[in-house]
Amino acid sequence: MQTVQDAGALRAAIRGWRTAGQTVGFVPTMGNLHAGHFSLIRLARMRADRVIASVFVNPTQFGPNEDFDRYPRTLVQDQAGLAEHDCDLLFAPDVATMYPYGPTNTVSLRVPQITETLEGAHRPGHFDGVATVVCKLFNLVQPDLAVFGQKDFQQLKVIERMVRDLGLPVKVIGAPTQRAEDGLALSSRNQYLTSEERALAPRIHAMLVQMRELIAKGHAVSVVEQAAASQLERAGFAPDYVAIRRAEDLLPPSGEERTGLVGLVAARLGSTRLIDNLLFD
Ligand code: PAJ
Repeated sequence: MQTVQDAGALRAAIRGWRTAGQTVGFVPTMGNLHAGHFSLIRLARMRADRVIASVFVNPTQFGPNEDFDRYPRTLVQDQAGLAEHDCDLLFAPDVATMYPYGPTNTVSLRVPQITETLEGAHRPGHFDGVATVVCKLFNLVQPDLAVFGQKDFQQLKVIERMVRDLGLPVKVIGAPTQRAEDGLALSSRNQYLTSEERALAPRIHAMLVQMRELIAKGHAVSVVEQAAASQLERAGFAPDYVAIRRAEDLLPPSGEERTGLVGLVAARLGSTRLIDNLLFD
């Protein structure tokens, strides 16, 4: 597997595939790859002739007090993992390639409405950074399809809307969340957890399963949300939100809506912020 760092080398590497009529699947990441990321590579592998991954810790999607500096950077390990999973090419640009005029002096995208709630409300500007960098990556890689994890459900929805609204010629594919045996969604941030916190962390998934059961039994959305939030608090979490929303647009459901719902949780455990979600259908 080849690794390229700049736009010219990327284009040169892809040119041959394009003239041979091969399709390109793309998996954007911030590196520190785990089984969740590799499941996206496998899906891309099944749907396209060639697979490109990117590793870029994108400064514009981190808030001033977030973990940009301490975000784990493990490129050599990531290269080995990607090669093992039959990835054809790794694009690992530096900041100057992605932001030639600097990260604070860039053309910026904003996807309205769906970005204003949940993660967007707690991380101002986060989805502007995500949409901007993903659009730039799409322009550089020009993939036929791109795979995103349902683990970041709102992110997937934001990308789907951006692609549709801007008419980008990329098919967006959502991939199921990969979990540890105890239910904890795999995440690069799990390694920040102490062993006590790691033992508590699967409660988030357990709570989402319980919420799904209560909704199926007909309990009211707001009652289920509040009970789950206070249970998480009692267990030692500091929840940012515990929400049941319509999967389509992430708006609150009307009283009668019982299908097409998703439960979403963001909670801090010590210094680590964890997010997870579960489709209720
Ligand atoms: P990152 O957090 O590295 O995640 C890259 C991709 O892996 C995302 O699509 C994410 O949803 C998916 N992913 C992470 N954990 C997963 C799991 N347990 N199961 C399945 N998929 C999982 O998300 C980003 O990077 C960035 O915001 C990015 C889109 C690359 C833009 O900078």
